[in-house]
Amino acid sequence: MNHPPLAGHPADTGLELCEGSALQERGLAVSFDIQLWDHPARAFALRFDGRPVAYVNRCAHVPAEMDWQPDHFLDDSGEWIMCAIHGAIYDPRDGRCAGGPCPGGKLIEVKVDERDGKVYWYPSADVQPAFPD
Ligand code: FES
Repeated sequence: MNHPPLAGHPADTGLELCEGSALQERGLAVSFDIQLWDHPARAFALRFDGRPVAYVNRCAHVPAEMDWQPDHFLDDSGEWIMCAIHGAIYDPRDGRCAGGPCPGGKLIEVKVDERDGKVYWYPSADVQPAFPD
């Protein structure tokens, strides 16, 4: 199913996700509901090297959610996003596979930015806001 164009909305201005202070450097992520290719899915944002980054919570190895524990995506070193299922690791800077069973793979990025103390995310052709309950 295709959605009508997002008139005047989030693609330009972003959707408020959380307070910037909710994302501590290399700390827990903030997860949020989305539609990925018109199917319900989850995404997560975390702070890495001072800036928020966000990806769809979907491993490039097998399309499954990756968190070890809810909102816990980084490995013990704090350097890598690690999938809890088979240990694929991804670079938090760009979502590229950096080891494990995801060679050549990449997480699906969700554009985010931070302004006036809040973090916003931006829908795309692939990643749309979740439908309201
Ligand atoms: S499902 Fe993530 S490493 Fe296999």
